[in-house]
Amino acid sequence: MGEHTRRSFLATTAAFAAMATVGRAGQAGQPAGATSATGLEKRKFGATDMVVTVLGFGGAEIGFRQTDQATVEKLLNSSLDAGLNVVDTAECYAGSEEAIGKAVAHRRKDYYLFTKVGHMERGEAGWTAASIEKSINRSLERLKTDYVDLIHLHSCDKATLEKGECIDALEKAKKAGKTRYIGYSGDTVHALYAVETGRFDSLQTSVSFLDQECIELTLPKAKARNMGVVAKRPIANAVWRFDAKPEDGYVVEYWNRLQKLGYDFAKGDSAKSSGPDGAAGTALRFTLAQPGVCVAIVGTTNPDRWKQNAELLRAGGPLPAEKIEAIRAKWKEAAEPGWVGQV
Ligand SMILES: NC(=O)c1ccc[n+]([C@@H]2O[C@H](COP(=O)([O-])OP(=O)(O)OC[C@H]3O[C@@H](n4cnc5c(N)ncnc54)[C@H](OP(=O)(O)O)[C@@H]3O)[C@@H](O)[C@H]2O)c1
Repeated sequence: MGEHTRRSFLATTAAFAAMATVGRAGQAGQPAGATSATGLEKRKFGATDMVVTVLGFGGAEIGFRQTDQATVEKLLNSSLDAGLNVVDTAECYAGSEEAIGKAVAHRRKDYYLFTKVGHMERGEAGWTAASIEKSINRSLERLKTDYVDLIHLHSCDKATLEKGECIDALEKAKKAGKTRYIGYSGDTVHALYAVETGRFDSLQTSVSFLDQECIELTLPKAKARNMGVVAKRPIANAVWRFDAKPEDGYVVEYWNRLQKLGYDFAKGDSAKSSGPDGAAGTALRFTLAQPGVCVAIVGTTNPDRWKQNAELLRAGGPLPAEKIEAIRAKWKEAAEPGWVGQV
């Protein structure tokens, strides 16, 4: 089932060398290890020439929640001014591509633009070469640009990947200059297969304290292949905010997992803390500590959120090893066999 249907409820030297080959990427790239205006770390995005600020922007929320255009403009422009350089969206995020195009196409060189394909037509039809080509052309039009930096296949299953047609179509788009890089967005055994094909520059997958399957299943393999890794759902939809079991099916699984895992940082006063050791700060710092993760694309409709989360990362710094180990240990002790990566 597609993400859009489930959610219908509603961002060194070697890097300088890489920058020399940036070409169309323009000014978005800076050396890995450098810091953004907000003091955030930048990481090299796998074997690509991109150097990304560790905190990115996830564009699903603005689409599904039908955020008004003035808010999107304020949110994106102020975040870009503060150091954001990765904007992630998809063809099926209900108006997200259009809103992003209208808001920031005029400063296209300030950010890396990632979108996704595969849900333009329903079912298998979405994964044909014709549908993928049509979808990419439509995304470029909506985003008001003649190229994106990265296109991910939007969570097709392993059987679809095995047929090869959708990967061939993405490679064709890359050769045509419509996208500079190609990736797979998805989870569990499907993501594992995608990584092992060796045909993708990037993996976008769910990584958080409530989504840890990838930490041993796919992330080490993606890292070994020098793929860029985008952490989606990086703070588990901030599910600690709910006082009672949420009705929204998209977050219920995380709610159930949190009840069993009972992490202290996501309970009581800690959950309410807006400091770096509170729930959001710990969650984000945990995700960014996982193998190969380059950027965490937090979704938001709040114009101040990117800067707030950037401040959590700046103030907290890397999550100490003992905290990371404690979060991992509890997961290993309590995770059920069905706790696979959530699409
Ligand atoms: N299959 C796929 O390819 C796929 C699937 C899912 C997601 N994604 C991508 O990943 C992005 C992120 O995923 P997501 O939006 O589902 O999950 P997420 O980033 O883990 O959570 C987003 C939610 O967290 C809230 N939030 C953010 N910072 C917070 C803070 N400091 N304190 C409390 N709440 C905070 C936001 O609310 P506010 O609006 O109040 O800030 C928003 O409701 C998406 O936008 C999309 O680009 C891709």
